[in-house]
Amino acid sequence: MQNFSEVILKLIFKNKLPSKHQLKNLILKTSDLFTFLDLKRPENYMKDQDFLKGYTAYFVPVNLAKIYSILKEFFRYPSIINKKDIKIIDIGCGPCPAILAVFKLFKEGLISFNYVRYIGVELQEEAIKFGKQMIEQFKPETLNVNYDFLKTDASDMKTYIELKELKPDIMIFSNSLGEIFDNKGIRKEDFIKFIKYFTYSDESFSLIIIEPGTKKSASRLHELRDSLIGDLGFYPYSPCINNLPCAALMANNWCYEERRWIPPEYLNFLSSMGLQINYLKFSYVILRRDGLNIRDTFLTDGIVIKNTSHLLKEKGKSRLWGCWDGRLVDIERLKRDYTDEDEWLKIKKGCYFSFDNFINLSETKIRLPRSTSVKIIYCPEVVSFNSL
Ligand SMILES: C[S@@+](CC[C@H](N)C(=O)[O-])C[C@H]1O[C@@H](n2cnc3c(N)ncnc32)[C@H](O)[C@@H]1O
Repeated sequence: MQNFSEVILKLIFKNKLPSKHQLKNLILKTSDLFTFLDLKRPENYMKDQDFLKGYTAYFVPVNLAKIYSILKEFFRYPSIINKKDIKIIDIGCGPCPAILAVFKLFKEGLISFNYVRYIGVELQEEAIKFGKQMIEQFKPETLNVNYDFLKTDASDMKTYIELKELKPDIMIFSNSLGEIFDNKGIRKEDFIKFIKYFTYSDESFSLIIIEPGTKKSASRLHELRDSLIGDLGFYPYSPCINNLPCAALMANNWCYEERRWIPPEYLNFLSSMGLQINYLKFSYVILRRDGLNIRDTFLTDGIVIKNTSHLLKEKGKSRLWGCWDGRLVDIERLKRDYTDEDEWLKIKKGCYFSFDNFINLSETKIRLPRSTSVKIIYCPEVVSFNSL
């Protein structure tokens, strides 16, 4: 394992480390490009050396941590983790955080492939060049890695016709879907046609889409999720535990994750500027056609609920919004009913939990009385980025 901060900064700045002030300016300039200038972002921003450096210093660790957290939950599944080789296509790969997440899992002994084949699809040559350096720097010595890049347009049907011959196990769109849709004007129907090529032969093909945790991006992702399920017979692996239409969308709401992480130390200055840095905020979905679901790894036959909100503390009670059998349900427990060491009070956003009885208050509202035992089944873990 290498010291992530030290190595990545050396790689970005070719051993001439920037001052704290220079680094801060580059990161803020790039962050503004995504936050405030979203609609004005030029298509080829990766060509600009400042943006490429700022992106790699800031968004690469952030996105790497998101992908790592999602893949860790994906590889919980025994028949998935037992594979000995894996083929990954990364669409709009940029400087390749997706494959670095696989390397981290391997180095931590959480996966044990013999062979990884990786194909990054990207329009910008500069991003590809940097991605290659990242792979060379971080690839584990004991893993057989074969990688290639395809410098091509991911909004073009021909790209997918070519890629289907590779028969990938995983296709990942990490923060690239929005750009492909918005810059090239592709529609949901076009995207479904692209993905259809990968559904013919292999039931175990996995499609992973990660988007920002904003209302616009998350809602578009979940609309797409519903169509991929309806039109192509996909079934979610996670975060959803059923293939019913998205409950958040139906409630005119949006569903996103907020997972705790420990960022590389050189990003700590962001919190002193009032920016949120300790949580990864994103929306995502993993889809497969064989029906494997994270729920199967929970070893419970009872009720399973995904908490989509924070635990909201109110006078005399606390509440949360749980996704339960295709509905967003307002679940509450009165303070007077709290038990010693009550697991209810420890449920974080994104956790899966269960309980053994409840009282119906209305069609979308229930109460957990004192006699109810609440059990947290699984919560995403904290991701730390000191080493890779
Ligand atoms: C926000 S970055 C995401 C990079 C990386 N996947 C990540 O998670 O950090 C989006 C990437 O998609 C690439 N991209 C945008 N439109 C594309 C297209 N039509 N075809 C191929 N790549 C595209 C951009 O050049 C950029 O590198």
